Amino acid sequence: MVVVGGDRVVNMTKPEIAVLSDPAALAHEAARRFVAIARSAIAARGQFYVALSGGSTPRAMNALLSSEADPALDWTRVQVFWGDERCVPPDHPDSNYGMARQTLLSKVDVPDQNVHRMHGELDPAQAALEYETELKRTFRVDHPQLPYFDLILLGMGPDGHTASLFPGTAAIHEHRRWVVAHHVEKLHADRITLTPPVLNSAAHILFLVSGPEKAGALQSVLEGARQVDRYPAQIVLPVDGQTTWLVDQAAAANLSP
Ligand code: 6PG
Repeated sequence: MVVVGGDRVVNMTKPEIAVLSDPAALAHEAARRFVAIARSAIAARGQFYVALSGGSTPRAMNALLSSEADPALDWTRVQVFWGDERCVPPDHPDSNYGMARQTLLSKVDVPDQNVHRMHGELDPAQAALEYETELKRTFRVDHPQLPYFDLILLGMGPDGHTASLFPGTAAIHEHRRWVVAHHVEKLHADRITLTPPVLNSAAHILFLVSGPEKAGALQSVLEGARQVDRYPAQIVLPVDGQTTWLVDQAAAANLSP
């Protein structure tokens, strides 16, 4: 920790980078850390607030969390959110909520009222406003405070995006709203996403990055110059939280030894 100016503590904890041999090992390590953080949060404050990631990488972790359901993890005390969502109905094959429902939530006893999905079926701007309201209601906070997640899971695309913060989008620099909806030109699609202030107030950030197609961006994000518009994943750097990158050897191929 470094004290800056005497009135603000800036956590200079460097991100942890853990290289796992393959996607299966990555999934096991991610599940292990998920349970550890969850149990610690429940012990400390009776609830575990987590934001799940979309995409395909979390599927294997979700399967482990549901199949090897740790009796020591009380899922009734887990509050589930998402870091981002596609603007599609919940039963659409692209829905991040739908993937989590299929691979995890339908197999553990999280109460329905603890599942806080982004309503991708609504008008995007309306869905973003509603989600911010849901965050305020659940965390019982309002501006200028921020919702405090125990864990936010994130992925990273081959272009260095994370959540739905894509290169060149204004959402990367959003510093007031907690949730924004925007049209992502390269996808020809609308997305809803948590913004950097919320991501950076988390106690733990866990990036899961797997596959050779991520190697170039991962090296640029972790070892290159800070260029958040080009590599939005670089915007994630919690002031007081711990960031961990769980990456497999294929994704880590370009990292310096
Ligand atoms: C999404 C995600 C996105 C994802 C990355 C990596 O909605 O797609 O939130 O940020 O995590 O694109 O996706 P993969 O895990 O499929 O590589």
